[in-house]
Amino acid sequence: MSEKHYNINYLENTGLFLKNLKQHSYHPFEKKRGPILDLGCGTGLDVIKMSELFHSSKIIGIDHDPVMLEKGIAESKGNQNIEFIQSESDNIPYNDGFFAGIRAERLMQHLKNPEKTIREVYRALMPEHPFAIIETDWAGLVIYNENNGISNKINKFLTEEKINNGYASRKLRFYLKGADFKDINIEVFPFVLKSLKEANEYLWLEIIINEASEKGYLTKLEKDLFIESLRDADSENYFACSINMVIVTSVK
Ligand SMILES: C[S@@+](CC[C@H](N)C(=O)[O-])C[C@H]1O[C@@H](n2cnc3c(N)ncnc32)[C@H](O)[C@@H]1O
Repeated sequence: MSEKHYNINYLENTGLFLKNLKQHSYHPFEKKRGPILDLGCGTGLDVIKMSELFHSSKIIGIDHDPVMLEKGIAESKGNQNIEFIQSESDNIPYNDGFFAGIRAERLMQHLKNPEKTIREVYRALMPEHPFAIIETDWAGLVIYNENNGISNKINKFLTEEKINNGYASRKLRFYLKGADFKDINIEVFPFVLKSLKEANEYLWLEIIINEASEKGYLTKLEKDLFIESLRDADSENYFACSINMVIVTSVK
């Protein structure tokens, strides 16, 4: 696995970009009463947003990264309805059936054993209550560029090396069925980036291409050629790349 493909700044940027998608993922929790968990909560953007929407519910954020959690704690400024807990996603330190809803955004792609986390979510969720997952379909990153061979190698690097669980978005139904979740539903949301600046801000595209070269998936020549053609396209306002995000909901 290469460098982590996120940091606090990245989560803030993508948080703005994915604002509507995030908002949509909160719907299953609207009519539920009781504590809601955001698993792999990062800097707590969604914990804070959900606490504004669902005043009467306690919103709990779990993440294993203390630096991310620190930011969430600072941003939530002592809000009594919010709690942040440091833990691994496959070890939720709450009793069986404690949560009235659980959400996990862009977490499954990082897990080596996602099935274990999904089983843990099932255990910690109340019967007949929802679980919502947001995932990035990294395997479906499309770059509109004539160098198809290089594009394919970048996708191979992403799914085989860069992202621990590069096909997570496509395996969610399988994971959920395996843990006995029911009423599984998928919605797919395409995102189009129209400039290299946006692609670098929201996908870290040039970082991906550079790492693919460092890891031997692209030669230096291929990397230089590809970046140059992206920059050329960008300067002619022709740049385009797209990626799908999915929201998968299910019920215990
Ligand atoms: C791409 S970030 C998404 C953060 C947040 N859900 C959001 O959308 O802003 C992935 C998060 O998952 C957390 N994470 C990764 N593996 C984890 C694990 N095994 N247990 C708990 N958290 C984990 C990371 O620390 C990071 O904060």
